[in-house]
Amino acid sequence: MTPYFADEWVTLYHGDALAVMANLPERSVDTVLTDPPYSSGGRRENSRTVRHSMTRRVADDDWIRGDAMSTQGYVWFNRLAALEYRRLLVPGGHAFSFADWRMAPLLSAAFETADLRIHPTIVWDKTYFGMGAIFRNQHEFIVHGSAGNPRPPQRRDVGNVIACKPIDDDRHPSRKPVGVLDVLITTVASPGGAVLDCMAGSGSTAEAARMSGRTAVLIEADERYCELIARRMSQGVLAMDGAS
Ligand SMILES: C[S@@+](CC[C@H](N)C(=O)[O-])C[C@H]1O[C@@H](n2cnc3c(N)ncnc32)[C@H](O)[C@@H]1O
Repeated sequence: MTPYFADEWVTLYHGDALAVMANLPERSVDTVLTDPPYSSGGRRENSRTVRHSMTRRVADDDWIRGDAMSTQGYVWFNRLAALEYRRLLVPGGHAFSFADWRMAPLLSAAFETADLRIHPTIVWDKTYFGMGAIFRNQHEFIVHGSAGNPRPPQRRDVGNVIACKPIDDDRHPSRKPVGVLDVLITTVASPGGAVLDCMAGSGSTAEAARMSGRTAVLIEADERYCELIARRMSQGVLAMDGAS
């Protein structure tokens, strides 16, 4: 496989997560930290929306690839991805994957049935609330698993609610703050180890990994975002965001 971009910190592949992961060697990854399309809206399953409050993303085919998957598609895709995480992780390595309140239980089941050991779900507290019908949304979830018995953490000063302001940036619609990713990486990833993000978006995982002396293996299906990642890593195009 020829990388789209590579330097001493990051190797980026342009392609489908499942296809590229299938070509990576087993036990070659220290930590998985990824952020699949939430697919929580309702173009194909309108009943999933709360008063159509989440249709923005799924109404636009150019928005995020895969963000309009059905529930079945979401489960199928994430279970196959989780099987690859299990194969690629070193024994005891940790896997994290973002999800919203609707899809987190399904993602957790995908992890569990791929033989990843489940740990308590982590909450990303965005520090202020957005939309919502009754209790307005202020959090997202991070499903956490490990390849068998978890390796001991690198630090023990972290609770499972991580507070960090979200990013508002039209260069990538769901960019995660480096501050949240940094906490996840520095808590469990081995110094110098490789962090895999197979749905890399704007490359925030690589930036967080580099900040703390880990390398990153990225996969991104959309060439617009591969280009953005390459510029981010080589030219610092997106400023470091939200690091605590
Ligand atoms: C939620 S975004 C990730 C955002 C990222 N965490 C960041 O901070 O910028 C999900 C990304 O997955 C990519 N994607 C969707 N389906 C994919 C697939 N099958 N293989 C690889 N990438 C995929 C989308 O293009 C999108 O950029």
